[in-house]
Amino acid sequence: MLRPLQRLRPLWALVAAAALAVGLSLGVGAPQAAAASSLPCDVYASAGTPCVAAHSLVRALYSSYSGSLYQVQRASDSATTNIGLLATGGYANAAAQDSFCSGTTCIITKIYDQSARHNDLTIEGAGGAGAADVGAPADALPVTVGGHQVYGLEISAGMGYRNNATSGVATNGGAEGMYMVTSGTHVNGSCCFDYGNAETNNKDTGNGHMDAINFGTECWFSPCYGSGPWVQADLENGLFQSDSGYSKNSSNTGTGALPFVTALLKNNGQDHFALKYGNAQSGGLTTTYSGGEPTVNGGGYSPMHQEGAIVLGTGGDNSNGSIGSFFEGVMTSGIPTDAADDAVQSNIVSVGYGGSTGSTGSLTAGSEISLAATTSCCTTDYIRHQANAAVLSSVTSSSSSLDKNDATWIVRKGLASSSCVSFESRNYPGDYLRHYNYRLYRQPMDGTAQFRADATFCPTTGKSGTGTSFASYNYPTKYIRHYNYNVYIASDGGSNAWDSATSWTDDVSWTVTSPWAP
Ligand code: AHR
Ligand code: AHR
Repeated sequence: MLRPLQRLRPLWALVAAAALAVGLSLGVGAPQAAAASSLPCDVYASAGTPCVAAHSLVRALYSSYSGSLYQVQRASDSATTNIGLLATGGYANAAAQDSFCSGTTCIITKIYDQSARHNDLTIEGAGGAGAADVGAPADALPVTVGGHQVYGLEISAGMGYRNNATSGVATNGGAEGMYMVTSGTHVNGSCCFDYGNAETNNKDTGNGHMDAINFGTECWFSPCYGSGPWVQADLENGLFQSDSGYSKNSSNTGTGALPFVTALLKNNGQDHFALKYGNAQSGGLTTTYSGGEPTVNGGGYSPMHQEGAIVLGTGGDNSNGSIGSFFEGVMTSGIPTDAADDAVQSNIVSVGYGGSTGSTGSLTAGSEISLAATTSCCTTDYIRHQANAAVLSSVTSSSSSLDKNDATWIVRKGLASSSCVSFESRNYPGDYLRHYNYRLYRQPMDGTAQFRADATFCPTTGKSGTGTSFASYNYPTKYIRHYNYNVYIASDGGSNAWDSATSWTDDVSWTVTSPWAP
């Protein structure tokens, strides 16, 4: 993997070019100053559409911001602390969270608004369609941004954040724009992973009372093309891909399982809205719709009737069956120019969202690895995920990039004990190897004590004398084992077929190798 500086240097040119396109004045010959002056809310302010909300778990969205990003609460004594930045205009101080939450678990209780509006988000209360939400686990989604390990927000069903008494957010047909950086690897087809404008009473008060970005695989108005996930507009009582609801663009098959996605919606509140998406790790934005407001569902969307609350992770009425990931997002006053959107996307790409810290091949937290079998049958076989389960399969230098990514894991400190380890999927950020009914699967971390224990493994010298064996944290006599090319936690003799004593010591001994997908 490229070191952050190697990755950033050539991108300064792109950022500067995009920023110049929107008329920003940059310090010529001072690339660091140029970048610092073009964080997303600086870009939107210069373009005349200032942020009225700026939420991020991972970085400052103004070059001058030096306040807190979010608040965590720990389980052991219910104490809270604010997590801030390593430097003004910089990245989250995740080490402060690690130290505060050491030996216990933490949830995210507040996400601060970096704008002067103080539109902070707190855990959402009960609504028309869902009971009160719970806070997301604070350590479920470790990623790197700008070379720093930070934590994103991983929403599972029953989690959401909201502010029903905001300042400056569009109401009653006002114009606004918004984007979020999310992930295509942790989505579902339930209502409604949203970020944006919603009702102030947590209820469905009618068409046009919401104006939020939706991201997921729920196709509300058929046809949607491909399998998604799609960037859609939740304008209430529908997830819209166009004025007619359904997708008019058969080439918009969704983003697929891209690890980092920029999702963007803008709406003049009267007679026009637009949807865009991009890969948050490279390239520009693609517009999937730009046209009139919806005319279906009995109307009511032109003009819009936004109420100005801000929702994150649920539908307007707190429908909370959806899952999703959130790293950063803003809302603007006024509809931003396309040039400003492009400059924001360039800035997002320039910070280098990624899944690891770049070190490889060891069991140190942050390192990327692959796990090779040592049994004589199978020494070119590795643990990879396939259709959500862990299996043993051959991976070679000529394997596809998908196969190599599926066979690559990021070592994390154990989710249930920091003296053990957990294995996060390289291409599904926030998903971990965990056992369930003794078989291993790749699943999103849901913050429960059960998941944490099932996803924690304690390394020890290989039982065959070779390599490393991994004892299950909650079943300490069972070790990660391959059997018939599936992967289990297994004891040396026992009632399940995979507990067979034959070749047990070899099957539970693994070689920790350099990652197939660095
Ligand atoms: O518009 C889709 C969803 O419908 C909204 O988010 C919710 O309020 C309603 O159930
Ligand atoms: O997992 C492959 C092989 O299947 C194992 O070595 C053996 O235990 C079983 O027969």
